[in-house]
Amino acid sequence: MTVVDESAATRHAGSGDGRSASSRAEDDATVLDVRGLRMRYGSTDVLNGIDVQASRGEVLALLGPNGAGKTTTIEILEGFRMRSAGDVRVLGVDPAKGNEAWRARLGIVLQSWRDHGKWRVRELLAHLGSYYAQYSTKDIQRPWNVDELIATVGLTHQASKRVGQLSGGQRRRLDVAVGIVGRPDLLFLDEPTAGFDPEARREFHDLVHRLADDETTILLTTHDLDEAEKLADRILILAGGTIIANGSPDELSRRTSADAEIKWSQGGQRFVHSTPDATGFVRDLLQQRDVTDLEVRRASLEDAYMALVHGVESGRADAVRQFEVVTR
Ligand SMILES: Nc1ncnc2c1ncn2[C@@H]1O[C@H](COP(=O)(O)OP(=O)(O)O)[C@@H](O)[C@H]1O
Ligand SMILES: [Mg+2]
Repeated sequence: MTVVDESAATRHAGSGDGRSASSRAEDDATVLDVRGLRMRYGSTDVLNGIDVQASRGEVLALLGPNGAGKTTTIEILEGFRMRSAGDVRVLGVDPAKGNEAWRARLGIVLQSWRDHGKWRVRELLAHLGSYYAQYSTKDIQRPWNVDELIATVGLTHQASKRVGQLSGGQRRRLDVAVGIVGRPDLLFLDEPTAGFDPEARREFHDLVHRLADDETTILLTTHDLDEAEKLADRILILAGGTIIANGSPDELSRRTSADAEIKWSQGGQRFVHSTPDATGFVRDLLQQRDVTDLEVRRASLEDAYMALVHGVESGRADAVRQFEVVTR
């Protein structure tokens, strides 16, 4: 079941304008503007023309099966990989031409990062952070105070440990700290919570919410639909080389299936019925005697995701028509 959070959609809209003082045109609203992005490896087309836009403070989750091209997309936006075609602007700049000042405004958490084993946590973050000092502005003090940052990612007790001695989950939190030490305007997180236990995951979710409240725009990839639903203002599903759905978690769940499933027991038997009018059906049902164990279930985001991705993989024409409805 999906709980509608009316505030989520509007949470970032029109909130403070603290960063405009850097007076760069790209600081206005659109942080990410991708049109017709294509990527071909050898003779294989991985991205067949994708469009993505993001505004300041928005949290976008990029979902899709393994090999869909999520990491490829993110690496192109980060300027790590040359695209084959398409128009891409990240903070107003073509990533293929981004300079150091542009790069300093990005935060990057790679899918895997295995370096710096001998450094101690605090030293490493202080060292990496020192690079950003020259990119401070009137509104954004860079880097993040190192002890505050360490506390924020929950590594206070590990601050003087060597990186090589951290557990997998602690290591990942350090990756996140490395990604945000320069107080980025735009943060890329490629499967940030892979390998997290539930507690670490929840702390990480709190951190993402705090960063977003602070006007950081975030693009993350995840395999965890529950996570996407909790974190994202907008979900983009990448499959078959294109964005097949783009909307809030709630919109995606509702548009892919209008029907609710109703289950109940009566006279010792269990019944199931699908209907677009759950309220009306239940009202009638409850006029009858002996109805117990009533359950009403709407399509979850997971149902929507499975239906969409399966449709692309099996190339069904009706499924494709459905995507066109969902894609805005
Ligand atoms: N450097 C590369 N050379 C050739 N093929 C690649 C390269 N990087 C990724 N691919 C292929 O591109 C596709 C998309 O990969 P990737 O972007 O890593 O997907 P995802 O992150 O969604 O799992 C995969 O089929 C992968 O094998
Ligand atoms: Mg990947």
